[in-house]
Amino acid sequence: MAFELKPHLAKQAGRVEETLSVLLTADPADQETQRPERLLEAMRYAALGGGKRLRPILVLETARMFGRDDPGIVIAGSALELIHCYSLVHDDLPTMDDDDLRRGQPTVHRAFDEATAILAGDALLTLAFDAITLDRVHPDPHLRLELCRDLSRAAGIGGMAGGQMLDLQSEHRSRTETEIRTLQSMKTGALLRYACRAGARLGNASEQDIGRLTRFGEIIGLAFQLADDLLDLEASPERMGKATGKDAEAGKATLVALSGPERTRQELASLLEEAEALLAPYGQRAETLSALARYVVQRDH
Ligand code: IPE
Ligand code: IPE
Ligand code: MG
Ligand code: MG
Ligand code: MG
Repeated sequence: MAFELKPHLAKQAGRVEETLSVLLTADPADQETQRPERLLEAMRYAALGGGKRLRPILVLETARMFGRDDPGIVIAGSALELIHCYSLVHDDLPTMDDDDLRRGQPTVHRAFDEATAILAGDALLTLAFDAITLDRVHPDPHLRLELCRDLSRAAGIGGMAGGQMLDLQSEHRSRTETEIRTLQSMKTGALLRYACRAGARLGNASEQDIGRLTRFGEIIGLAFQLADDLLDLEASPERMGKATGKDAEAGKATLVALSGPERTRQELASLLEEAEALLAPYGQRAETLSALARYVVQRDH
């Protein structure tokens, strides 16, 4: 990542952190009874104080490219981050990837217990749909409704959760390249695609621009999981803040396992070219998104 961008991204991550903390307040919202302390503590543990915040930052930066930058857009990004955080809590459970470390800390089921981790995931997921429908997200209720549906589809059976199912069913099984691409575009790609698409829609972009940014999100999604799989093979747990070397051990179906690290790196380079070509029409306005694409491809943690 270019050096001068770091403070900007840290500032954006700070806005997301603040909004997440407000959403995860101890005060019950209208129509709620109370927020049990232990569940709230586990949710705050899962959602605050860590993570790269890539998904909400993509929402913010895409909307900003189309001229929108206000607290409502941060709520939209935070809604997506809540879903991502829930997915990590459940992904780490003993019946799934069985991990003890996440974002450099014990996983939620380790710090609390399994039942609390399951409930914290459930409640983070549902809070996301509360957040995305808040008035401040966009003045047009119809658009908020459509975003809510898009978010549900990105997270659910035909998106992230469905992809997680295919991922688990592919352990120790041979899978074709097409099958692996499909599962990755669902388990990881769907939320990143949504991030860019939602940012464009919330920024009132034209249909053509929404289409371009949706494709940009797909490329980022694929590149992001390729990089995650490479890092699982090559990086240390200290650098990643999570266990590494687990994919080979669990017999995960990844493109790195199928084609090797060299071909994966070549593919990452060509995905970056495609991403930059999609951003070319926006010139200087796309500077941050273009830097984010480079970051996703070149990241080392
Ligand atoms: C990890 O996502 C899970 C994958 C989809 C590979 P991130 O690498 O974005 O995790 P955080 O949010 O930075 O911890
Ligand atoms: C997880 O993929 C994707 C999710 C939907 C959470 P991984 O299982 O590879 O993510 P890490 O490596 O545990 O972060
Ligand atoms: Mg997993
Ligand atoms: Mg995992
Ligand atoms: Mg991984």
